[in-house]
Amino acid sequence: MTMSPERIAILRTGVDVEEAIYGRRSVRKYTDAPVPEEDIRRIIQAASRAANAGNQQMWHFLIIRNKEVTQRMQQEVITALQEAMAWESSRPWETHLKSRVRGSSFFTEAPVVIAVLSKPYDTVLDSQVLPAHGLTFQDIYDLRGDPGRQSVGAAIQNMLLAAHAMGYGTCWMCGPLIARPGLERILDVTEPWRLVALVPLGVPAETPNPRPRKPVEEIVTWID
Ligand SMILES: Cc1cc2nc3c(=O)[nH]c(=O)nc-3n(C[C@H](O)[C@H](O)[C@H](O)COP(=O)(O)O)c2cc1C
Repeated sequence: MTMSPERIAILRTGVDVEEAIYGRRSVRKYTDAPVPEEDIRRIIQAASRAANAGNQQMWHFLIIRNKEVTQRMQQEVITALQEAMAWESSRPWETHLKSRVRGSSFFTEAPVVIAVLSKPYDTVLDSQVLPAHGLTFQDIYDLRGDPGRQSVGAAIQNMLLAAHAMGYGTCWMCGPLIARPGLERILDVTEPWRLVALVPLGVPAETPNPRPRKPVEEIVTWID
């Protein structure tokens, strides 16, 4: 990939954190330009700097550049959605489900797909004290708010911001998880790891408008 003067300038100077936060968009169309390995490493490095529970860094990233693999993954997602569409109980939502097909499977159009894996937060309280008192994994997960996945969420956001700052487009995707067991089989993901998101990465081939957000006053409650 030839670097534009703007991108070289960004790499030299860095991008203001607010520009990255406010300038990032979910990008769903990419050019075929390859992403240099060095850039992918920088993006993963940024992900790994995220705040995370107990600094356990319960994340792992699969960098998928093989189209044959991403196409098999795409087929897995389409098949899972078609199965859901065929359920008698899905009748009222058939049109909605059809509209989800591209939104859950376009990742294969990007030159790189990052599969994000997470494993549970492991502490004496979570894995010894609470189970010994009779709490199930689900009870503990609900009580504790799943610090493992919260940590991975922070890493994904760092990844999106870093990629944007370097001139790349990404989209955080959980839609494909409708086919999680099949995707995990293709990617050879085994316990305790779990696939939590896919992040396609590439040079943007579209410039999406910002999507609206609720005003601060609507999402905040002041407790003085
Ligand atoms: C957890 C999560 C899952 C998402 N899953 C998908 C997805 O499967 N497909 C998709 O097209 N976008 C997905 N998105 C992107 C959102 O649709 C997008 O962030 C939102 O509409 C706001 O737009 P913006 O990112 O451009 O600000 C997901 C975002 C998050 C945080």
